[in-house]
Amino acid sequence: MDEATEEEARTYERDGFLVIPSFLSEGECFALMDRAKRLVDSFEVPSRDRASVFSTNEQTRTSDEYFLASGSRVSFFFEEEAWDRGALRHDKSISINKIGHALHELDEVFAPFSKSERLRDITRSVAGMKTPELVQSMYIFKNPLIGGDVSCHQDASFLITTPPSVVGLWFALEDATIENGCMWALPGGHRGPLRKRFSRAPEGDARGTVMTTLDETPLPAPAPSEPWIPLEAKRGTMIVLHGLLPHWSSSNRSTRSRHAYALHFVDGEAAWAADNWIAR
Ligand code: FE2
Repeated sequence: MDEATEEEARTYERDGFLVIPSFLSEGECFALMDRAKRLVDSFEVPSRDRASVFSTNEQTRTSDEYFLASGSRVSFFFEEEAWDRGALRHDKSISINKIGHALHELDEVFAPFSKSERLRDITRSVAGMKTPELVQSMYIFKNPLIGGDVSCHQDASFLITTPPSVVGLWFALEDATIENGCMWALPGGHRGPLRKRFSRAPEGDARGTVMTTLDETPLPAPAPSEPWIPLEAKRGTMIVLHGLLPHWSSSNRSTRSRHAYALHFVDGEAAWAADNWIAR
Protein backbone atom coordinates (compact mmCIF):
# COMPACT_ATOMS: atom_id res chain seq x y z
CA MET A 1 0.00 0.00 0.00
CA ASP A 2 1.43 3.42 -0.84
CA GLU A 3 1.66 6.22 1.70
CA ALA A 4 -1.32 8.14 0.34
CA THR A 5 -3.51 5.08 0.63
CA GLU A 6 -2.31 4.37 4.16
CA GLU A 7 -3.21 7.94 5.11
CA GLU A 8 -6.65 7.51 3.52
CA ALA A 9 -7.21 4.25 5.38
CA ARG A 10 -6.30 5.97 8.67
CA THR A 11 -8.70 8.84 7.97
CA TYR A 12 -11.47 6.37 7.18
CA GLU A 13 -10.79 4.43 10.35
CA ARG A 14 -10.81 7.61 12.44
CA ASP A 15 -13.85 9.34 10.93
CA GLY A 16 -15.93 6.52 9.47
CA PHE A 17 -15.83 8.16 6.06
CA LEU A 18 -13.34 9.29 3.47
CA VAL A 19 -13.92 11.98 0.85
CA ILE A 20 -11.91 11.57 -2.36
CA PRO A 21 -12.38 14.56 -4.70
CA SER A 22 -12.04 14.06 -8.47
CA PHE A 23 -12.26 10.29 -8.22
CA LEU A 24 -14.42 10.26 -11.35
CA SER A 25 -13.83 12.34 -14.44
CA GLU A 26 -16.54 14.69 -15.67
CA GLY A 27 -17.00 12.32 -18.59
CA GLU A 28 -17.70 9.38 -16.28
CA CYS A 29 -20.24 11.45 -14.34
CA PHE A 30 -21.98 12.59 -17.51
CA ALA A 31 -22.11 9.03 -18.86
CA LEU A 32 -23.91 7.79 -15.72
CA MET A 33 -26.25 10.80 -15.69
CA ASP A 34 -27.02 10.34 -19.36
CA ARG A 35 -27.84 6.67 -18.78
CA ALA A 36 -30.14 7.53 -15.87
CA LYS A 37 -31.90 10.09 -18.03
CA ARG A 38 -32.49 7.48 -20.73
CA LEU A 39 -33.83 5.01 -18.16
CA VAL A 40 -36.29 7.62 -16.88
CA ASP A 41 -37.28 8.58 -20.44
CA SER A 42 -38.22 4.99 -21.22
CA PHE A 43 -39.97 4.42 -17.89
CA GLU A 44 -43.74 4.46 -18.17
CA VAL A 45 -45.36 6.29 -15.25
CA PRO A 46 -47.90 4.00 -13.60
CA SER A 47 -51.37 5.25 -12.80
CA ARG A 48 -51.84 6.71 -9.37
CA ASP A 49 -55.63 6.42 -9.19
CA ARG A 50 -55.15 3.27 -7.10
CA ALA A 51 -54.33 5.67 -4.29
CA SER A 52 -57.92 6.76 -4.07
CA VAL A 53 -59.14 3.16 -4.13
CA PHE A 54 -56.85 1.22 -1.84
CA SER A 55 -56.75 1.68 1.90
CA THR A 56 -53.54 2.94 3.45
CA ASN A 57 -52.59 -0.55 4.55
CA GLU A 58 -53.04 -2.01 1.13
CA GLN A 59 -51.07 0.83 -0.36
CA THR A 60 -48.26 0.15 2.04
CA ARG A 61 -48.27 -3.52 1.18
CA THR A 62 -48.28 -2.81 -2.53
CA SER A 63 -45.32 -0.50 -2.27
CA ASP A 64 -43.56 -3.05 -0.07
CA GLU A 65 -43.98 -5.71 -2.73
CA TYR A 66 -42.60 -3.38 -5.37
CA PHE A 67 -39.81 -2.41 -3.03
CA LEU A 68 -38.99 -6.01 -2.10
CA ALA A 69 -38.85 -7.03 -5.75
CA SER A 70 -36.53 -4.12 -6.51
CA GLY A 71 -33.58 -5.95 -4.98
CA SER A 72 -33.21 -7.80 -8.25
CA ARG A 73 -34.68 -5.22 -10.62
CA VAL A 74 -34.30 -1.74 -12.00
CA SER A 75 -37.19 -0.08 -10.20
CA PHE A 76 -38.29 3.54 -9.98
CA PHE A 77 -39.38 5.24 -6.76
CA PHE A 78 -41.22 8.54 -6.81
CA GLU A 79 -40.75 11.49 -4.53
CA GLU A 80 -43.40 11.73 -1.83
CA GLU A 81 -44.28 15.19 -3.04
CA ALA A 82 -44.39 14.19 -6.69
CA TRP A 83 -48.11 13.42 -6.78
CA ASP A 84 -51.15 15.61 -6.55
CA ARG A 85 -53.98 13.09 -6.29
CA GLY A 86 -53.90 11.15 -9.57
CA ALA A 87 -51.31 13.15 -11.46
CA LEU A 88 -47.68 14.06 -11.25
CA ARG A 89 -47.22 17.68 -10.24
CA HIS A 90 -44.11 18.01 -12.37
CA ASP A 91 -42.55 16.32 -15.35
CA LYS A 92 -41.53 12.73 -14.56
CA SER A 93 -37.89 13.70 -15.14
CA ILE A 94 -37.91 15.58 -11.83
CA SER A 95 -40.44 13.41 -9.98
CA ILE A 96 -38.36 10.34 -9.27
CA ASN A 97 -36.51 9.93 -6.00
CA LYS A 98 -34.32 7.02 -6.99
CA ILE A 99 -33.74 4.03 -9.23
CA GLY A 100 -32.74 0.78 -7.51
CA HIS A 101 -31.56 -1.65 -6.49
CA ALA A 102 -29.89 -3.88 -9.08
CA LEU A 103 -28.48 -1.44 -11.61
CA HIS A 104 -25.10 -2.99 -10.82
CA GLU A 105 -26.33 -6.36 -12.11
CA LEU A 106 -28.71 -5.50 -14.89
CA ASP A 107 -27.84 -2.23 -16.55
CA GLU A 108 -25.47 -2.13 -19.49
CA VAL A 109 -23.84 1.13 -18.33
CA PHE A 110 -24.10 0.92 -14.53
CA ALA A 111 -23.03 -2.73 -14.30
CA PRO A 112 -19.55 -2.42 -15.84
CA PHE A 113 -18.92 0.78 -13.88
CA SER A 114 -20.10 -0.76 -10.60
CA LYS A 115 -18.18 -4.01 -11.01
CA SER A 116 -14.87 -2.40 -11.93
CA GLU A 117 -11.85 -3.67 -10.06
CA ARG A 118 -10.95 -0.05 -9.27
CA LEU A 119 -13.92 0.21 -6.90
CA ARG A 120 -13.37 -3.18 -5.34
CA ASP A 121 -9.76 -2.13 -4.66
CA ILE A 122 -10.97 0.92 -2.72
CA THR A 123 -13.09 -1.25 -0.44
CA ARG A 124 -10.03 -3.36 0.27
CA SER A 125 -7.37 -0.69 0.63
CA VAL A 126 -9.41 2.01 2.38
CA ALA A 127 -12.06 0.03 4.26
CA GLY A 128 -10.10 -3.16 4.85
CA MET A 129 -12.65 -5.50 3.26
CA LYS A 130 -11.39 -9.00 2.63
CA THR A 131 -13.92 -10.27 0.12
CA PRO A 132 -15.99 -7.32 -1.13
CA GLU A 133 -19.33 -8.37 -2.54
CA LEU A 134 -21.49 -5.81 -4.29
CA VAL A 135 -25.10 -6.25 -3.18
CA GLN A 136 -26.99 -3.04 -3.87
CA SER A 137 -27.00 0.01 -6.12
CA MET A 138 -29.08 3.13 -6.32
CA TYR A 139 -29.24 6.21 -8.47
CA ILE A 140 -30.39 9.12 -6.32
CA PHE A 141 -31.87 12.21 -7.97
CA LYS A 142 -32.54 14.58 -5.07
CA ASN A 143 -34.45 16.67 -7.56
CA PRO A 144 -34.83 20.45 -7.30
CA LEU A 145 -37.64 21.73 -5.05
CA ILE A 146 -39.16 18.31 -4.24
CA GLY A 147 -36.14 16.13 -3.47
CA GLY A 148 -37.03 14.48 -0.16
CA ASP A 149 -34.91 14.14 2.97
CA VAL A 150 -33.29 10.93 4.17
CA SER A 151 -33.62 10.45 7.90
CA CYS A 152 -30.66 9.60 10.10
CA HIS A 153 -29.56 5.99 9.67
CA GLN A 154 -26.69 3.53 9.53
CA ASP A 155 -26.40 1.66 6.24
CA ALA A 156 -25.60 -1.56 8.12
CA SER A 157 -29.23 -1.60 9.32
CA PHE A 158 -30.38 -2.40 5.80
CA LEU A 159 -27.82 -5.02 4.76
CA ILE A 160 -27.40 -7.29 7.74
CA THR A 161 -24.26 -9.33 8.23
CA THR A 162 -22.56 -10.71 11.33
CA PRO A 163 -20.41 -8.89 12.10
CA PRO A 164 -21.68 -5.71 10.36
CA SER A 165 -19.56 -5.26 7.24
CA VAL A 166 -21.29 -2.79 4.91
CA VAL A 167 -19.19 -0.27 3.05
CA GLY A 168 -20.83 2.36 0.85
CA LEU A 169 -19.31 4.08 -2.14
CA TRP A 170 -21.19 7.28 -2.90
CA PHE A 171 -20.47 9.26 -6.06
CA ALA A 172 -21.39 12.90 -6.56
CA LEU A 173 -22.48 13.15 -10.19
CA GLU A 174 -23.36 16.80 -9.59
CA ASP A 175 -22.11 19.20 -6.93
CA ALA A 176 -23.66 18.36 -3.57
CA THR A 177 -23.95 21.40 -1.30
CA ILE A 178 -25.72 22.33 1.91
CA GLU A 179 -28.31 24.15 -0.24
CA ASN A 180 -29.22 21.16 -2.41
CA GLY A 181 -29.25 18.53 0.31
CA CYS A 182 -25.75 17.08 0.75
CA MET A 183 -25.17 14.31 3.28
CA TRP A 184 -24.36 15.11 6.91
CA ALA A 185 -22.26 12.72 8.97
CA LEU A 186 -21.19 12.23 12.57
CA PRO A 187 -17.38 11.91 12.52
CA GLY A 188 -16.31 8.88 14.55
CA GLY A 189 -19.94 7.80 14.93
CA HIS A 190 -19.12 4.44 13.32
CA ARG A 191 -17.57 3.34 16.61
CA GLY A 192 -21.03 3.25 18.19
CA PRO A 193 -23.35 0.27 18.08
CA LEU A 194 -25.78 -0.68 15.32
CA ARG A 195 -29.10 0.82 16.44
CA LYS A 196 -31.64 -0.76 14.14
CA ARG A 197 -32.21 -3.76 11.97
CA PHE A 198 -34.38 -3.72 8.85
CA SER A 199 -35.48 -7.11 7.60
CA ARG A 200 -38.18 -9.12 5.87
CA ALA A 201 -41.14 -9.76 8.11
CA PRO A 202 -41.72 -13.38 9.10
CA GLU A 203 -43.87 -15.49 6.81
CA GLY A 204 -47.53 -14.53 7.15
CA ASP A 205 -46.77 -11.03 8.50
CA ALA A 206 -48.55 -8.61 6.15
CA ARG A 207 -46.14 -5.80 6.88
CA GLY A 208 -43.58 -7.12 4.40
CA THR A 209 -40.65 -5.61 6.26
CA VAL A 210 -39.93 -4.78 9.89
CA MET A 211 -37.60 -2.39 11.66
CA THR A 212 -36.31 -3.72 14.99
CA THR A 213 -34.43 -1.66 17.57
CA LEU A 214 -31.19 -3.36 18.62
CA ASP A 215 -29.63 -0.65 20.76
CA GLU A 216 -31.17 2.45 22.35
CA THR A 217 -27.90 4.42 22.51
CA PRO A 218 -29.06 7.86 21.38
CA LEU A 219 -27.58 9.88 18.57
CA PRO A 220 -27.43 13.67 18.45
CA ALA A 221 -30.56 14.97 16.74
CA PRO A 222 -29.92 15.63 13.05
CA ALA A 223 -29.23 19.32 12.61
CA PRO A 224 -27.16 21.38 10.22
CA SER A 225 -24.65 22.13 12.97
CA GLU A 226 -22.03 20.48 15.20
CA PRO A 227 -21.41 17.66 15.89
CA TRP A 228 -22.75 16.89 12.43
CA ILE A 229 -20.64 17.91 9.50
CA PRO A 230 -21.78 18.49 5.92
CA LEU A 231 -20.21 16.25 3.29
CA GLU A 232 -20.23 18.81 0.52
CA ALA A 233 -18.87 17.22 -2.62
CA LYS A 234 -17.97 18.52 -6.05
CA ARG A 235 -19.01 16.51 -9.08
CA GLY A 236 -16.70 13.51 -9.42
CA THR A 237 -16.10 13.14 -5.67
CA MET A 238 -16.35 9.68 -4.16
CA ILE A 239 -17.23 9.25 -0.49
CA VAL A 240 -16.43 5.96 1.22
CA LEU A 241 -18.91 5.41 4.06
CA HIS A 242 -18.55 2.96 6.94
CA GLY A 243 -21.74 0.94 7.39
CA LEU A 244 -22.09 2.00 11.03
CA LEU A 245 -21.62 5.72 10.37
CA PRO A 246 -24.77 7.69 11.22
CA HIS A 247 -25.69 10.01 8.36
CA TRP A 248 -28.68 11.79 6.88
CA SER A 249 -29.54 14.39 4.27
CA SER A 250 -32.10 17.13 4.15
CA SER A 251 -34.61 17.76 1.43
CA ASN A 252 -33.63 19.79 -1.59
CA ARG A 253 -35.52 23.07 -1.75
CA SER A 254 -33.01 24.68 -4.09
CA THR A 255 -33.46 24.90 -7.84
CA ARG A 256 -30.48 22.62 -8.54
CA SER A 257 -30.62 18.83 -8.60
CA ARG A 258 -28.12 16.72 -6.72
CA HIS A 259 -27.68 13.47 -8.62
CA ALA A 260 -25.60 10.76 -6.98
CA TYR A 261 -24.92 7.09 -7.45
CA ALA A 262 -24.40 4.79 -4.47
CA LEU A 263 -23.11 1.24 -4.15
CA HIS A 264 -23.10 -0.99 -1.13
CA PHE A 265 -20.68 -3.82 -0.53
CA VAL A 266 -20.67 -6.42 2.21
CA ASP A 267 -17.77 -8.65 3.16
CA GLY A 268 -18.07 -12.22 1.97
CA GLU A 269 -16.24 -13.23 5.16
CA ALA A 270 -19.21 -12.08 7.27
CA ALA A 271 -22.40 -14.12 7.66
CA TRP A 272 -25.30 -12.85 5.55
CA ALA A 273 -28.64 -12.82 7.42
CA ALA A 274 -31.29 -14.99 5.78
CA ASP A 275 -33.98 -12.37 6.45
CA ASN A 276 -32.22 -9.51 4.68
CA TRP A 277 -34.74 -7.56 2.60
CA ILE A 278 -32.56 -8.09 -0.44
CA ALA A 279 -31.98 -11.66 -1.62
CA ARG A 280 -28.50 -12.83 -2.43
FE1 FE2 B 1 -27.20 5.75 3.75
